[in-house]
Amino acid sequence: MSGPALPRFPGGFTWGVSTSAFQIEGAAHEDGRGESIWDVFCRKPGAIRDGQNADVADDHYHRWREDVELMARLGVGAYRFSIAWPRVQPTGRGPANAAGLDFYERLTDALLARGITPVPTLYHWDLPQALQSEGGWLARETAARFADYAGLAAARLADRIPLWITLNEPFVVTAYGYALGFHAPGASLMMDALPAAHHQLLGHGLAAAALRSAGVSQVAITNNYSPAWPASDSEADMAAAYAYDVWHNRLFTDPVLLGAYPDLSPFGIPSGPGKPGGPGGDAGPAGPGGLAWIRDGDLAVIAAPVDGLGVNYYRPARLSALPDALLPFQMEPIPGYPRTAFGWPVVPAGLTELLMLLKERYGAALPPVYITENGCSADDRVSAGGVVADETRISYLDGHIRAVHEAVAAGVDVRGYFVWSLMDNFEWTEGFHQRFGLVHVDFATQRRTPKDSFGWYRNMIAAQRG
Ligand code: FCB
Repeated sequence: MSGPALPRFPGGFTWGVSTSAFQIEGAAHEDGRGESIWDVFCRKPGAIRDGQNADVADDHYHRWREDVELMARLGVGAYRFSIAWPRVQPTGRGPANAAGLDFYERLTDALLARGITPVPTLYHWDLPQALQSEGGWLARETAARFADYAGLAAARLADRIPLWITLNEPFVVTAYGYALGFHAPGASLMMDALPAAHHQLLGHGLAAAALRSAGVSQVAITNNYSPAWPASDSEADMAAAYAYDVWHNRLFTDPVLLGAYPDLSPFGIPSGPGKPGGPGGDAGPAGPGGLAWIRDGDLAVIAAPVDGLGVNYYRPARLSALPDALLPFQMEPIPGYPRTAFGWPVVPAGLTELLMLLKERYGAALPPVYITENGCSADDRVSAGGVVADETRISYLDGHIRAVHEAVAAGVDVRGYFVWSLMDNFEWTEGFHQRFGLVHVDFATQRRTPKDSFGWYRNMIAAQRG
């Protein structure tokens, strides 16, 4: 249940919703769209629950007008969506596919006509397959291709869109996609996945520069974060939590905000002069166990100032030691909290803790923060009367919005909050089994039904404005 009225946020605070291209658009083969690594991954036996794929998904590519109307009814001030690289450059290089950009231009103009600010993310995991065939993010070249694509998108839309996000959750791409193999492209390289981390960061830096030269005024990157709690106060578990914090929370933020990699010694990578965590931070030529793929000057590109940090938060992590493992930690359950349909613990205080941690860790280097994703999955069903009673989602959102307010009151500069997600969609390896939307989608008929949480969020936004 939600509690008393939510405290008031500062005037100008942005209330929004988030989606991503692959998860909602469908129209996988239309208007010249190329294949992405997720199209390919979905065909891998056993990769996606029930063998589902996103060829149709929410059919948003055709139903975007209806979806913009839903957002107008909701009263959001901003919509974070992603642009599909394979629509803009079907093979990841070369001139723009005009039809692909036309789609995002129509969407942008419709949003603006409704007073909704578009907030595009350029990379929400759907790499053109043609680039994967050349190494994907393991190849340095991909960073340059990403900047080209960013420039093409901005050349069309920078005049109407102020804030652009480069990457979504490079941690998940690196860890799940390249180290552990349960996301596209399905590589299980463990620590040999690190070049994918660096090349995404380099891609962010190069894309940021390309966006700015195309006239974009604000650039941000979105990371997901989980406060790292040791499972006990033993030295080993504390070290495990430290390692996890580096890997999940610092690896994609320190280089951007501090211009240096964090201490990677828990992963057997030495720090020292010219090495991550060492003075200067910029790695030179790799020694044994060093980071050969980092070139002089890369960190300066990566650390060019940003105008915002996108924060995705779902849950904290509790870690115990896993001795002699390449990743020296394991996730432990967090008892004592309610769980979402995904089994994730509901810990709103973790969001306050995280925001305070970011402020403490980065100080003056921390740009304005946007909560670019927060939400929960639930086993939502439409009743005979057409109602979706999703009390648990209302309670989740209420608790987390209060948690953001606490951080704001304590001086963290948070400028906006985006619910994940506007509507139920293709939840990666879970297919259509995890419903995160404020709007229920019947995937057989494409019928959209606003859930009770939709009305709750609409009222909350109206009350904040009133
Ligand atoms: C995040 C992803 C987003 C969605 C949510 C539930 O990690 O960015 O696409 O899948 O999780």
